Amino acid sequence: MIMKSSLFLFLLLIPVLTSSADNKQVYIVYFGEHSGEKVFQEIEDEHHSYLMSVKETEEEARASLLYSYKRSINGFAALLTPEQASKLNELNEVVWVAQSHPNKYSMHTTRSWEFSGLEEGGRGFFKTGGDSSLLLKAGYGKDVIVGLLDSGVWPESQSFSDEGMGPVPKSWKGICQTGPGFNSSHCNRKLIGARYYIKGFETHYGPLNATEDYRSPRDKDGHGTHTASTVGGRTVANVSALGGYARGTASGGAPLARLAIYKVCWALPGQPKVNGNTCFMEDMLAAMDDAIADGVHVISISIGTSSPVNYTDDGIAVGALYAIKKNIVVSCSAGNNGPTAGTLSNPAPWIITVGASSVDRDFIAPIVLGNGMKVQGQSLTPSKLNPNKMYPLAFAADLAKPGVSRDLARVCLPDSLSPKKAKGKIVLCMRGNNSRIGKGVVVKGVGGVGLILANIPENGIEVPADPHFLPATGISYSNAIKVLQYINLTKTPRAVILPGMTVLHTKPAPFMAAFSSRGPNVLDPNILKPDITAPGLNILAAWTEEDSPTKLPDDPRVVKYNIISGTSMSCPHVAATAALLRAIHPTWSSAAIRSAIMTTATQRNNLRLPLQDENGSLANSFAYGAGHFRPTEAVDPGLVYDASYTDYLLYLCSIGIMNIDQSFKCPAKPPTVTDLNYPSLAIPKLNGTVTVNRTVTNVGHPKSTYFFSTIPPSTVSVKAKPSILSFNHVGEKKSFTITITPRSEKRLKTGKFNETEEYAFGWYSWTDESHHVRSPITVSLA
Ligand SMILES: *[C@@H]1O[C@H](CO)[C@@H](O)[C@H](O)[C@H]1NC(C)=O
Ligand SMILES: *[C@@H]1O[C@H](CO)[C@@H](O)[C@H](O)[C@H]1NC(C)=O
Ligand SMILES: *[C@@H]1O[C@H](CO)[C@@H](O)[C@H](O)[C@H]1NC(C)=O
Ligand SMILES: *[C@@H]1O[C@H](CO)[C@@H](O)[C@H](O)[C@H]1NC(C)=O
Ligand SMILES: *[C@@H]1O[C@H](CO)[C@@H](O)[C@H](O)[C@H]1NC(C)=O
Ligand SMILES: *[C@@H]1O[C@H](CO)[C@@H](O)[C@H](O)[C@H]1NC(C)=O
Ligand SMILES: *[C@@H]1O[C@H](CO)[C@@H](O)[C@H](O)[C@H]1NC(C)=O
Ligand SMILES: *[C@@H]1O[C@H](CO)[C@@H](O)[C@H](O)[C@H]1NC(C)=O
Ligand SMILES: *[C@@H]1O[C@H](CO)[C@@H](O)[C@H](O)[C@H]1NC(C)=O
Ligand SMILES: *[C@@H]1O[C@H](CO)[C@@H](O)[C@H](O)[C@H]1NC(C)=O
Repeated sequence: MIMKSSLFLFLLLIPVLTSSADNKQVYIVYFGEHSGEKVFQEIEDEHHSYLMSVKETEEEARASLLYSYKRSINGFAALLTPEQASKLNELNEVVWVAQSHPNKYSMHTTRSWEFSGLEEGGRGFFKTGGDSSLLLKAGYGKDVIVGLLDSGVWPESQSFSDEGMGPVPKSWKGICQTGPGFNSSHCNRKLIGARYYIKGFETHYGPLNATEDYRSPRDKDGHGTHTASTVGGRTVANVSALGGYARGTASGGAPLARLAIYKVCWALPGQPKVNGNTCFMEDMLAAMDDAIADGVHVISISIGTSSPVNYTDDGIAVGALYAIKKNIVVSCSAGNNGPTAGTLSNPAPWIITVGASSVDRDFIAPIVLGNGMKVQGQSLTPSKLNPNKMYPLAFAADLAKPGVSRDLARVCLPDSLSPKKAKGKIVLCMRGNNSRIGKGVVVKGVGGVGLILANIPENGIEVPADPHFLPATGISYSNAIKVLQYINLTKTPRAVILPGMTVLHTKPAPFMAAFSSRGPNVLDPNILKPDITAPGLNILAAWTEEDSPTKLPDDPRVVKYNIISGTSMSCPHVAATAALLRAIHPTWSSAAIRSAIMTTATQRNNLRLPLQDENGSLANSFAYGAGHFRPTEAVDPGLVYDASYTDYLLYLCSIGIMNIDQSFKCPAKPPTVTDLNYPSLAIPKLNGTVTVNRTVTNVGHPKSTYFFSTIPPSTVSVKAKPSILSFNHVGEKKSFTITITPRSEKRLKTGKFNETEEYAFGWYSWTDESHHVRSPITVSLA
């Protein structure tokens, strides 16, 4: 007994040392399908016996097991040495083993101090489609259940009120898991489920520090509350972000949808909150194992890696595949690593991958210069400057402290500005190198009365509206040049920042956010990603009251609604749309829902010009996929490109992943990768004519005839066979081929095309009297 307990103590006291010394890591061990007849205890016992086969003792086996996935996924997560992992991998019953990497996954919001703005959520959401008849038709998403993997929820928010909502759908099998700050009465008819998953996190970091996060579904961070209310928040009138500024109505996309919260992301221990959270693959898989079995219809995941991960090593991709098997729609953020090419995450073809763009709403806080010129700016900070007075204006570079270079001062780094020179002035700081809110703190600290935050060329027209600590406004790069020229040419430059207000219908909108991760899809260039873009810049939604809007330690402000940006914010917009489509078309597959969203997207802005990047350049499908989503159009797409779970398994066969589902045998000759029935077309390294198969399903008028048209990428010709498709009933399928031929064989032989010519972009469409079923094409030549 004594022996045992001292051994136990030993193991407890130095687990970190032993695990680094003997090189133990968390591995996920996947098994084939379990026959649905086994009870969960049997499956768990089975997992245990496999674990026993590589561990010395029963205790060791038990202690090493983090999760036994048994409700939807068959597998387990355990602490293993590489040798033990490879031993397990050799077993016949084990399909594959993947290693979990700490801190690989994070939430796809840009740091909240980097962004802010205000939008009336509900309005902005449906503006492109016209009216809200879709909402009515879909019963506002009534009884559709959306699961969110995120940082939890702030259940007191008005956005999660269940007033007037009917009973929880009978199909629901989830639970309301309690813990600090979260009891069973925090779930209601809106928040119908809540769980948390922390074993992976605690295995790596040790016990959660209770002052840093709640060991319960309660959201201390804000991100999870924001994404959940974007999907399914109730319509709440008269909300505002800060100080009553930019007041409006907040509403989720599917305001009567039910929400199920799966908390999988946790505060990084010992780090400032602005550094964000971390999410462990084994925790996310456990959440998905539950979400699928709980009965969600849509899963929204605003989480990803900063670089692509192979499908079988990626917990999100694997979990999503199990979800697709149950016909659950999975919407994921593309990532915030743009505008660099090839940066997107979550590229699996069974996921809807969502990029981020702007909305047509600004929170303007203009600057008036001493010469009377007015320069447009954006802010979330109510300006308390006297609008009838002019204040001295200076470029921060000209205010450097003695001994500090102009380069440090121009970006307003801490300790770079001279209080003597800056006192009483409005200071223009350039973006970059430190946080935007932090620059305001520096200017305020040296006695400045206002901040003009100037974009650098990379930021273009993407102006964030931030909750600064002093009167402040952000300006585009071209406006920055104007103000700097005025400063240069003026002896005593002066300016005032006017009080802000909300303006609607700004143009151009939408434009792509610079941060939105871009294609090509480096994991599989045969699948075009992202699929779609949706609003992700300056989005208003509910917030935790446990954290300030800036997440800075000395920001005492508490808000019920906050404005943040990221593909994290665009992903739930698409999840909400999927929920509405699921409500209207309950029999559609997840692929059909994605197809409807993609083929009805628009590639034009509100000036009827092609979508642009933040710098005014033409954007392309590597930024926006099929285009900007139009929920109201997606209801009636005419035709859909359907795909089943089996089609995805065939796709995996074709890329050499043969055994992901043991109940399925890859054919001796798998189809080619490009034949996955996808609503877009990507042909990398074309070196001759390629023919691609596609099948469309009629979901429009019973009797209809569709005609083919194309705007081919400049380097190729595109033909369809047949070029007319006639349908006689709903549900009828028609197949066709698309043939893509390089335009100039000669050019191919002269060698590689130059960088800008390497990829070319185009479209093909099927059109009847009332539908335009459009698919993007991207081609690169060998
Ligand atoms: C749950 O907590 C709230 C306070 O947050 C309290 O008012 C309520 O009575 C609690 N309910 C239960 C069932 O404990
Ligand atoms: C828990 O977090 C708080 C705040 O970050 C910190 O002050 C404290 O030292 C931490 N406690 C432990 C045991 O790490
Ligand atoms: C909105 O809320 C503010 C502050 O809570 C209040 O003063 C104002 O009257 C409200 N407006 C409407 C239209 O309810
Ligand atoms: C991803 O898979 C490819 C092909 O199977 C392999 O060559 C590559 O090493 C894998 N990458 C990682 C990071 O495991
Ligand atoms: C504009 O930005 C895009 C990516 O965001 C980039 O590819 C393009 O080169 C930029 N154009 C200019 C003129 O800087
Ligand atoms: C700011 O960052 C850029 C790019 O990382 C770097 O080149 C530059 O030297 C930095 N400037 C300062 C003042 O730190
Ligand atoms: C302002 O003047 C400085 C030198 O005095 C020069 O380097 C800078 O380019 C000028 N800026 C503008 C916008 O004219
Ligand atoms: C594409 O369709 C054609 C005609 O139905 C068929 O012969 C061919 O095998 C298909 N290609 C693949 C790779 O399935
Ligand atoms: C085109 O590429 C394929 C595969 O990369 C290769 O097998 C084939 O020989 C190439 N054809 C030509 C004409 O270069
Ligand atoms: C590459 O192609 C683009 C577009 O045709 C052209 O404008 C550019 O001059 C070319 N660059 C080179 C180095 O040939």
